[in-house]
Amino acid sequence: MRYGFGCDHAGFELKEVLIRELLAAGHEVVDMGTDSPERTDFAIYANKVAQAVSEGTLDRGVLVCGTGLGMAMAAGRFPDIRAVSVTDCFSARMSRRHNDANILCLGARVVGAGLAVEVLKTWMSEGFEGGRYAERLEMMRGGYKGGT
Ligand code: RB5
Repeated sequence: MRYGFGCDHAGFELKEVLIRELLAAGHEVVDMGTDSPERTDFAIYANKVAQAVSEGTLDRGVLVCGTGLGMAMAAGRFPDIRAVSVTDCFSARMSRRHNDANILCLGARVVGAGLAVEVLKTWMSEGFEGGRYAERLEMMRGGYKGGT
């Protein structure tokens, strides 16, 4: 599984922590920037990571900004991107099991590094349950042919 990472200035420090954790655990990581705490715009990096996941060159993405909110909004505009902004392990777990979230967004001004690492590990370890949850994703795409 190839994980793409992106952040803005507010998320830079936390992104570095998260990448170190994943590399230490032997995961494949693609760092798409930003590369310093110098002020920049979150949408640049959300777009890069979301486009790569949307096109299938990366399997999943992790985006870090101040709140996680702008990243989720920007990433969610791409086809087949299910981006969630999460601050707790329960939501991280359910976003994989029920929503098949493929981009996790974190707010470096909201969660500490310790919690962010746990949220990310939880999110990475969970699978999609499919079934009625897959039908609901189809409904989101507009392709659902079942009843109302
Ligand atoms: C940057 O100050 C901040 O607005 C950004 O990191 C993010 O929180 C936007 O959603």
